[in-house]
Amino acid sequence: MRLDVVTVFPDYLAPLRLALPGRAIDRGILDLAVHDLRAWARDVHKSVDDTPFGGGPGMVMRPTVWGDALDDLVRPAVDESGERPLLIVPTPAGRPFTQTDAHRYARRGHLLFACGRYEGIDQRVIDEASTRMDVEEVSIGDYVLIGGEVAVLVIAEAVVRLLPGVLGNQRSHEEDSFSDGLLEGPSYTRPEVWRDRPVPEVLRSGNHAKIARWRRDESLRRTARRRPDLLDGADLRPADLDILDS
Ligand code: ADE
Repeated sequence: MRLDVVTVFPDYLAPLRLALPGRAIDRGILDLAVHDLRAWARDVHKSVDDTPFGGGPGMVMRPTVWGDALDDLVRPAVDESGERPLLIVPTPAGRPFTQTDAHRYARRGHLLFACGRYEGIDQRVIDEASTRMDVEEVSIGDYVLIGGEVAVLVIAEAVVRLLPGVLGNQRSHEEDSFSDGLLEGPSYTRPEVWRDRPVPEVLRSGNHAKIARWRRDESLRRTARRRPDLLDGADLRPADLDILDS
């Protein structure tokens, strides 16, 4: 996967070269490039923003600078495989980013992230880009960050860990929270008793069917307590309903 990030703070994205994404780069699974938007600025001050039409506080990022950056990074508009790049614009005004999106993005060949700062990017950049690439404006939650950089770290990490060959054990993300529409239940490791707290007996029983049922029940109870909204979309079986009723 090719992953381009355009930002006025390239240093913010340094963590993408650490740990798991760093390993994906070393193995050639991920081709990461972080670009300084100011490289496309036209004036001596390298300015990338201007006052908003219609008035109001803050500054808006200039379409001229963003347009040139996207032209350079998305050339040709369709890659060798015939696929269009996907431009992802993190913004608190976007659609909520979910695990389903992470899986969808992980199947793409080229992701391009545009980090907005200030009051955001001139909307025409997004509208014009939509004519030649797929574009999604996404939010990582109902709160406002200073810019899109941290959101890119979040989204990129969620996507990169799904790329084939990145996680050692394929099952570990098949059993993630959200993969079956539910939250994952609790986990335990040695010692068997710690500060008078034993690991649940069933996990030490060696009975795999019982362990699977216990995990499912814990997952259901946790979801019902913490995120009841997820139960509507989950694939529930008859035995699950008994747990939720109890
Ligand atoms: N930029 C600022 N706040 C954001 C948020 N909550 N999600 C995505 N991008 C953002």
